[in-house]
Amino acid sequence: MNQTSPSATEIQALFDRIAPVYDRLNDCLSLGQHRIWKRMAVKWSGAKIGDRALDICCGSGDLALILAKTVGKTGQVTGLDFACQQLDIARQRQRRYCPRLSMTWLQGDALDLPFADNHFDCATMGYGLRNVMDIPLCLQELRRVLKPGAKAAILDFHRPRQSYLQALQNWYLANIVVPTARDLGMVEEYAYITPSLARFPQGTEQVQLSLAAGFTSAVHYPLLGGMMGILVLST
Ligand SMILES: C[S@@+](CC[C@H](N)C(=O)[O-])C[C@H]1O[C@@H](n2cnc3c(N)ncnc32)[C@H](O)[C@@H]1O
Repeated sequence: MNQTSPSATEIQALFDRIAPVYDRLNDCLSLGQHRIWKRMAVKWSGAKIGDRALDICCGSGDLALILAKTVGKTGQVTGLDFACQQLDIARQRQRRYCPRLSMTWLQGDALDLPFADNHFDCATMGYGLRNVMDIPLCLQELRRVLKPGAKAAILDFHRPRQSYLQALQNWYLANIVVPTARDLGMVEEYAYITPSLARFPQGTEQVQLSLAAGFTSAVHYPLLGGMMGILVLST
């Protein structure tokens, strides 16, 4: 794989390949913290009982499953991803953890969402925006499918401002993430995080892109000293 700028097909194949170890690695590499950040994202998406909710780039379903518990039996959650191996795991997890909740798993493209305009009450995206080929288009698609007054929360890596935190983040990625992935035979697959983060717009740029995509408000909240962030958007 070309690590500097992989194609959409390469990204899709990558996430299919890492599907069997993805959840275990996330828990291990974030010391379980990603579960807290995902709960925060769902809370900040404004999801409530009875909502029709969307999780874009749902992967193995973490955020979609939290959304489903939040919107309850009267709500509806759609998880969308283009990697079918990830969706298979998401389906298995739903059968096991929340079989009675209404969930739909769809193979689809975040850049061409297969939904009508003004369809969802709220949306989330976790670690997806950094991976799409066209961030402005992805934000426009998200805006299009949200109802007026709806909110979305987008969780992803972020580059901290302070140089010592940047050094810590680089060290962590090079010395913890990549070697851990190597032990699982996935070194190439996880080495892509550093170049993808280098290309990813900073919080202030994400806000500008979101406003240009038609959101009425956009706020980026840095987490973990700015190593992560949640972008909260309103229509
Ligand atoms: C890092 S994973 C995140 C999975 C999950 N949201 C989480 O937080 O654990 C990124 C996901 O985005 C998906 N993805 C990337 N680009 C996509 C696109 N254009 N359309 C749909 N899914 C995409 C990948 O297949 C992958 O499952």
